[in-house]
Amino acid sequence: MCGIVGYIGPRNCVPILLEGLRRLEYRGYDSAGIALVMNGKFSIHKKAGKVADLVSLLNAGNSELNAQLGIGHTRWATHGEPNDTNAHPHWDAKKEIAIIHNGIIENYLAIKTKLLREGHTFESSTDTEVLAHLIGVMFERTNDLCSAVRMALSEVEGTYGLVVLSTRDSGKIVVARRGSPLIIGVGEGENFVASDASAIVEYTRQVVYLEDGEVAELTTQGFQTMTIDDVKIDKVVEEITLELSQIERGGYDHFMMKEINEQPETIRDAMRGRLLLDEGDVKLGGLTDVMERLLKAKRIILNGCGTSWHAALVGEYMLEQIAKIPTEVEYASEFRYRNPIIGEDDVLFSISQSGETADTLAAMREAKKKGATVLGIVNVVGSTIARESDGGVYVHAGPEIGVASTKSFTSQLTVLALITLMLARAKGMSREDGKVLAKELASLPDKVAHILKQTETIQALANEFKDVRNFLYLGRGANFPVALEGALKLKEISYIHAEGYPAAEMKHGPIALIDENMPVVFIVPRDGIYDKVISNIHEVRARRGRIIAVANEDDREIEEMAEFVIPVPRTYGFFGPIINVIPLQLLSYYMAIARETDVDQPRNLAKSVTVE
Ligand code: M6R
Repeated sequence: MCGIVGYIGPRNCVPILLEGLRRLEYRGYDSAGIALVMNGKFSIHKKAGKVADLVSLLNAGNSELNAQLGIGHTRWATHGEPNDTNAHPHWDAKKEIAIIHNGIIENYLAIKTKLLREGHTFESSTDTEVLAHLIGVMFERTNDLCSAVRMALSEVEGTYGLVVLSTRDSGKIVVARRGSPLIIGVGEGENFVASDASAIVEYTRQVVYLEDGEVAELTTQGFQTMTIDDVKIDKVVEEITLELSQIERGGYDHFMMKEINEQPETIRDAMRGRLLLDEGDVKLGGLTDVMERLLKAKRIILNGCGTSWHAALVGEYMLEQIAKIPTEVEYASEFRYRNPIIGEDDVLFSISQSGETADTLAAMREAKKKGATVLGIVNVVGSTIARESDGGVYVHAGPEIGVASTKSFTSQLTVLALITLMLARAKGMSREDGKVLAKELASLPDKVAHILKQTETIQALANEFKDVRNFLYLGRGANFPVALEGALKLKEISYIHAEGYPAAEMKHGPIALIDENMPVVFIVPRDGIYDKVISNIHEVRARRGRIIAVANEDDREIEEMAEFVIPVPRTYGFFGPIINVIPLQLLSYYMAIARETDVDQPRNLAKSVTVE
């Protein structure tokens, strides 16, 4: 949520900031801005809209921009509508300080009221401008930027990834973190700061992850880290492995399509070196130390938000049905406010693509505080959830840039299947049975590749339905979460209202919506409840609803009942969601294309939700 990039060094930072913002735009994209220190003065440029709009503004300007110190921000609005004034950077009262900020200053109104009484005036409706003024007040007292930032932050409640510049104390950038990720990129004679590595990987692979409560001062020559109370901290410089090609579109029109097509490979990567085909078993290094606790656990709790929560729902079926471990799923966003009964016998898995989702992180911290073992199923290496958990498994899907999660979902499911198989074997599943499941898992990438060949048919289907206003998605068992995920994908990027339901629940309400204008997508593989879902299909047909079925390719019966069939290969029931979701991802993609919406950066959304 919001992208942050900053530079101090000998180069002209303008192209570094703009390219960084372009790479960070998936985090938030309603306005963007940069602050440069040029000849001891600020040059600040802000624009509502995309980074491209900011670039046009700069190109339209007359002056050549060249600065060796600067910061840039791409925003996802929390306080104040997305317009030029509310865009970051923001100044203090004397316009000697510029700040960019990710997060929410929860007590900003109290601080603002006090500052207003002292004669301050504010241009924007943001909490960030209030923080800028507060830092300015402290700067007057101390004359030292870093001390001013620390003093201001000691009065602040809320979350921040904060980057501060001053024209008066100008050889430095001061950064601070609480609740919003920040990394320092360490170069030679230059240093960077960013909200994630994609903005700076072109220039350095040496990074330092800031932890909550930490502040750092960056100069051209190095950096110094400390707590808000000014206790010096030594940080470890780590190497990032991210490749530039992973964050480029690579010939595709959209990141989402690239990421959908990467799935045969990303599912394979999730299993690589972990799935032991000959032994019918799984080895997960990140869980070795907690294996005993996992096996003794009275229950497993899976939580996450959005798509990751859907993955958790599928995981519940896998863990309960295959490994026979009582499992519960909960929205991370609801978890801590419910004051859940959690103890040392519980194991909580936080599922998150970004590893930074504020609600998921807060739920994990809450469970940890109450004594549970907390584990992560995370994509982004080095993310906060990965670092704060007691162990876990990376899904290895590579950077996911499209706002709609696709490959991270199938990789999360694959990892949940691996965890399930490992626990099932440890709890007594025979090697022979394990081998059958392992073989089935290993076959999934080819099955996904096979489905991906159907793009043309699915595109035609999307064109047929592009003007429809509502969709229903229905599935049962482990395919109920697939229905939820299909509906979420559709609404996120095509803005068509869609709902997912367990198929049998339809007659308890949603059936009232069915008429000849309502398409209903059924996920109906040939499993133990096939006949039940067929009955639900009849119920929709009887009311003239239009039926699209995701069904097994050898299912002839379904062709009689559905207006459109999207064939998928057969697989073991609980692994079905990994392949059944693929046509639904393609359908939502092509619906968005047909409706000419912004596939990768749909309105109002951001990739990584780091505010509550
Ligand atoms: O990074 P996370 O997996 O924690 O993100 C959770 C949700 O915000 C995310 O899955 C969201 O629902 C996606 N945009 C869905 O496509």
